[in-house]
Parts: sequence; C-alpha cells; structure tokens
Amino acid sequence: MKRQLILGGVLLAAGGLAARDVVQAQAARDEAQAPVVSWAPTTGSLPRFPDFGLLPPPEIFTAERVFKLSQDYPRAEPAMEPAVKQLLAIDYNRDWKPYANGALAYVLAGNIENRAMQNSFYAEDNKIRHWYHVPWMHWADNGREGLHGLTPEGPIRAKSLSPTQTNWWQTYALAIYNAPGGSAIGRVWADAQNPDLTTLKARGFPVGTVVAKLMFTTTPVSDAPFLSNPIEWQAYIKKTFSFTPTGFPIAPREVNTVRLLQVDIMVRDSRADATGGWVFATYVYNGLQSPKRSPGQAFDNRWRNLMPVGLMWGQDPTVTSHLAGNAEPLKTMINPDLQETRINTDPALPPQHLGFGLRLNGPADNSLSSCKSCHSVSEYPDISLVLPYIGPGDKRNLICGGPEWMRWFRNLPVGQPFDKASNPLDNSLSLAISITNFLDAKTRRDGGFNSLQYWHGQRQMSKSNQRGAVPDGGDPCANASMVASK
Ligand code: HEC
Repeated sequence: MKRQLILGGVLLAAGGLAARDVVQAQAARDEAQAPVVSWAPTTGSLPRFPDFGLLPPPEIFTAERVFKLSQDYPRAEPAMEPAVKQLLAIDYNRDWKPYANGALAYVLAGNIENRAMQNSFYAEDNKIRHWYHVPWMHWADNGREGLHGLTPEGPIRAKSLSPTQTNWWQTYALAIYNAPGGSAIGRVWADAQNPDLTTLKARGFPVGTVVAKLMFTTTPVSDAPFLSNPIEWQAYIKKTFSFTPTGFPIAPREVNTVRLLQVDIMVRDSRADATGGWVFATYVYNGLQSPKRSPGQAFDNRWRNLMPVGLMWGQDPTVTSHLAGNAEPLKTMINPDLQETRINTDPALPPQHLGFGLRLNGPADNSLSSCKSCHSVSEYPDISLVLPYIGPGDKRNLICGGPEWMRWFRNLPVGQPFDKASNPLDNSLSLAISITNFLDAKTRRDGGFNSLQYWHGQRQMSKSNQRGAVPDGGDPCANASMVASK
C-alpha cells in the first residue's frame, strides 16, 4: 500500500516523465522481494509498472484504499476455465441473450459480493479468478486515477442519454482482462522497454479471452432518470472535461462521485473468426427497475439492474440502411437488415441511440460508430482515428456511408491491421493507448510526437477522448438517407 502511494505521488510530481526511472528502480526492489508464485518465470524478472498516475494530495483527501495494477501476467497461456467453456457452448447467433447474461455473470463473479459498493472490482479481492489490467494507462492528463484505476474517456453530449439530459457529462472507465487475456498482455509487455508489436499478429488473443469494461459517468440522475438507485464510486476526476491532444498539461482534478452507466464485454470466440474473432456485448444500468435485495443474497441487487443492450460479432459491411441513425433517442430503433447485430427488444430498456446504421453501440458511445468499428482500429502506429469522422477538422470530404467511411465497417480477419503499414493489436484499444503512451513519453524529451505525422500533420487527440455519443461540429449522417439513395 505504501509503495503505491509513494509511486503515485512521484509520478504526479514529475508529470510522468520520470516514470521509466521509477519503474526501473521499482523493478529492482520488486525482484528482491518477489513472492514465489506458480506461474512466475523461471529466469529473469517480470517487469513492474506504475499502478496509477494521479492521486489527490493527502491534505485534500485521504484515500482509504488505492488502486493496485494487477500485473503478475501469466507467463504461459492458461487452460480454458470451465466457466468460459460453458459460455462458448452457447450459440450466440440463436441465443444471444443467454450468451450476454452468461458473460456478465462471469465478469461480476467475485468482484461484487459481500462488500461495500465502494470496494467492488478491486482485482486483488477476487477469490474466484484472477483479472489483469493493462499497464501504461497511468500517463499524463488521461492517466489512471489512483482510487479505482479509472481512465477518462470522451464526453456524453446533451440529449444522447435521455431527452431530459441538458448538459455534456464526463465518462471514466476501468477495463479488466481474464487470465488468457492477461497472458497476451504479458507477452506484449514482457520487456518493459520494448513492447512487442508482433505477438498479436499471428493469432491475436487466445480463444476464451474475456475483457470487461465498466463505464462510469458524472451524469446526475436528473439528466438520465434510468440512473436512479445508482452504483456510485468516489474517483479522482477532472473538474471539467478537457480534450488534451497528446497528454499535457494535466487538467485540474477533484474527488467526486461517478455512477455506473454501461458495462462492455468482449469475448474471443473462434466461431466469430470469419468476422474478426470477437463477440461484443453491452449493458446499460437501469435503476428504474429497482429490485429489492433478496434475503441472504451476497451482493447488492443494484448490480442486477444491468440490462443487456445487445450483441454484435460482425459489422454487416454491406448494409447502408438507416444511415441517419437515432442520435437523440426517444425510443430504441431496430435495423432489420443487420444480420450480425442483435438488439434487446425488452420495453424496459432505456431508449438507445445505438451506432452507425443502428449497429450495436452503448449509451456513452458515438452514434456514428459501433463497438467493432472503433475496436478494429486498434493498431500501432496510430495511422487512423477510431471514428470514421471526427468533426470539422477532418479534410477528407467524407460521404456518410461512402467507400472511405465504410473502411470502418469491414470485417477484418484476425491479425489484419486496419492500415496496411501498421501492426494489429487485435481489437484491444487499451493496448493501443498503452503503447502510444509509452512511446510518447519516451520520445517526448526528444521532441517526438509519435504517430502525429500520419494524421495530416495535425496533433491527434488521444484515442480515449475520441469516444463520445454524438460527433462534434455537425453530423454528416443526419441527412444521409438522401445521400445513400442517390
Ligand atoms: C468511439 C470508440 C469506441 C466505441 C464505439 C467502443 N469502444 Fe470500447 N473502447 C474504446 C477505447 C478508446 C477503449 C480503451 C480506453 C479505456 O479502456 O479507457 C475501449 C475499451 C474497451 C474495452 C476494454 C478492452 C480494450 O479494448 O481495451 C472493452 C471490453 C470495450 N471497449 C468494449 C466495447 C463494446 C462492447 C463496445 C460497444 C458497445 C465498445 N467498446 C464501443 C473505444 C470505443
């Protein structure tokens, strides 16, 4: 505990630039103290990474507990757990809801029971299975905060959650990988000074990898009534949302309340190999259901308020109907042409805007994208942005649904990068951010700007900030039904 506090403090004071030195010093200390664990390497030491980057100073806030990066990545690929085998035995095409509910139960198990809400999802408390975090998300303005390990994501623009939403609000995320996923993170980061860009090319993450992300928001219940009876955490967040192109300066932060809005899950499932290898599922918090706690139940029933929004395993690359979407939803609209997306038709589901052409997307996501369109741009170097369109700064004269646009809606096979000249990171955007952060920190002192030259020489926003529910500065798809019918 003490080590992390000091480490977080050092990084904050040094603005992250001394991170490598700190890691090296820490690695030497850890090597001397490392406990013997069954999957420890037989030679050499595992690299150590900082737990987080930003923690409030003690005179402002005394943390009862700080975030610990789960980084003892398995050195060998673990055997598939029975619980994952059961999940992979469900036919997601026919039984999408049991698959989605099964994946959620797997993610919640051991992370929520018998504890205060504030202590949920500390990986080290899970007695059922190990979960792992991606390193190098601690760096700079979008760095991990030290209370829960949350990282900032894009804004949620007004009216995208509900008609009563008057303001833009912030979002913060925590992603966890199960043991097969952890082994792949460990392969990429086996040498802390040289992330391996080739290891995910051959076959991506192991089949049976499950990744989950909890997405919290500053949105008050009055702006989104379905957040009633919320799951809340205290976190060290930005006072106001800031777009920081490449990391500095660090915007002022405060300890404030965030509430759970969305859970995202990705499952590496070989049955989806033809469309990219992953099944994506998303869930929205709906506290209007407000279930009562059952006697003897080990967890707070509020976790039951998570409702599946849908599932997608492919992009339906040729479907260009419903281009205008439903960015400010009054009810959820379904596009019957989509064969590789399933959307929940339960009337209790809070109205969803969904994504491009009504493909699957979550309530906090950009309505011009989809789970898979953003994640397919997981690559290094960062040649393409995660969104097909980013706003008026974009000089490509894009046509909504045109060939350049539809590059984001391809079904790329496992191991194929979005851009030919890049290296695929198999849909992991945390890993893309992690590698970009590391190389950015490494080259910054020499005046390097890593991937920037690829994007028309403009300074590029961090991948996490590109997220958000509606595009900035106009929506080229708003009248797109006309364009498409030409
Ligand atoms: C607008 C782009 C965008 C869209 C749309 C999007 N994501 Fe992500 N996602 C990200 C970024 C950026 C990260 C990494 C940053 C972080 O975790 O804070 C991420 C992280 C994740 C993670 C953690 C693993 C990883 O890749 O690092 C999961 C799981 C995930 N998303 C699932 C989903 C699902 C399911 C959907 C659809 C409902 C979705 N995402 C839609 C951008 C997007």
